[in-house]
Amino acid sequence: MKILGIESSCDETACAVVEDGKTVLSNIVASQIDEHRLYGGVVPEIASRRHAENIGWVTSEALERADCSLDDIDAVAVTYAPGLIGALLVGVSYAKGLAMAAKKPLVPVHHIAGHIAANYISHPDLKPPYLCLVVSGGHSHIVEVLDYCKYRVVGRTRDDAAGECFDKVARTLGYEYPGGKFIDAAAKKGNAAAFDLPHPKVQGSEYDFSFSGLKTAVINLVHNAQQKGIEINREDMAASFQRTISEILCTKAMLAAEDLGYTTIAVAGGVSANSGVRERITAQCEKRGYKLFLPELKYCGDNGAMIACQGFYDFAAGRRADMSLNAVATLSIENL
Ligand code: KG4
Ligand code: ZN
Repeated sequence: MKILGIESSCDETACAVVEDGKTVLSNIVASQIDEHRLYGGVVPEIASRRHAENIGWVTSEALERADCSLDDIDAVAVTYAPGLIGALLVGVSYAKGLAMAAKKPLVPVHHIAGHIAANYISHPDLKPPYLCLVVSGGHSHIVEVLDYCKYRVVGRTRDDAAGECFDKVARTLGYEYPGGKFIDAAAKKGNAAAFDLPHPKVQGSEYDFSFSGLKTAVINLVHNAQQKGIEINREDMAASFQRTISEILCTKAMLAAEDLGYTTIAVAGGVSANSGVRERITAQCEKRGYKLFLPELKYCGDNGAMIACQGFYDFAAGRRADMSLNAVATLSIENL
C-alpha cells in the first residue's frame, strides 16, 4: 500500500511516497531555512507563504521520483497538528484538495507521532511497546509508545524544548539559526569538561525536563566573560553544553525506562541527530542491555516520509478525516 505523506508544520515543505510504512519511494524536502536564518528564527507568515509556493512542485516531484501517479496512491496522509497554524493550514488544505480530486482517503497525522514513526523506516524490526525520547525544536517528551497509534506522555519539558535550548545557546555563541548542528560540529573540537553547567532540579514529575536554567547559565557565563573582555572558547562551551544536555536527556530517559520496565528505547525528532545525544544514549543502553533504535540522520528532521509512515499505521487503525479537517496548533499526542 502506497501512502503520500505531506508535512508543512514548521519551515520544511515536504512530501514523500512510502510503501507499506517502511519502503521510502521518494522523500522531497524543501527547506526555507536560508530565509528564516536572516531573522534568527522561523517567521510564521513567511513560512506559510513559502509553503504555499512550494507545496505543488514538492508533491509533483515526490510522485515523479516514486514513479507514481495519484492513481497509484492508496491514501493521502497529512500533518494537521501541532505546529504553526498558518503553515499547517497550507499542507492540510492542499492534502484535502488532493484527496478529494483523486478520490483517496485522507489520514490526519500528528507531527510527533510522525517523528516517532521515522524509526520504523530505519528499523522494520522495531515494534511497540517501547519508550521513546522525543527531542525536537518544539517538543521534549518521554513517551510510552503503547501501540502504533497509542501513546502516554510520562515526561515533558516545563519550559524550552531541547532543540530550542540548542538554538538559543548557539545564538549566544554566535552561530547561525538553527544552531543545533553547529553546536554539534563545534563540540567535536572542544573540551567537554571545560565548563561545569547546572543540571536542573524539577519539582513534581521526576521525568519532566527543564532547560531554561541551563540556557541561562551559558548566557550568563558568556556575557560575564564579554564584560570582562575575556573570550570564552566557543568549542569548549559547545562541548560542555552538549555533554550536559545529553546527560540530562539520557538520565531521565534511563530512569523512566527502569521504573516503567522498558528495555526497548527509541529516540526521535531533530535533536536525535545530535552526535553527543546518540553516543551517550547508545552507551547507556549498552550498559543496561537495552535495545536502542535511532532514526537515520536523514529522517531525524522534519520530512514527509515519517508522516507517510505513521499515516500507514493510522490508516490501518481506521483513522480518516473528511473535508472538514482543520489544523490544530497545540494537541497532545495522547489525545488522538
Ligand atoms: O524535529 P525538528 O526538525 O523540528 C521540529 O519539529 O521542531 O527539530 C529541529 C531542531 C532544531 O532546534 C535544530 O537545531 C535541532 O533540531 N537539531 C539539532 C541537530 N540537528 C538539528 N540539535 C542538535 N544537534 C544536531 N545535530
Ligand atoms: Zn518536527
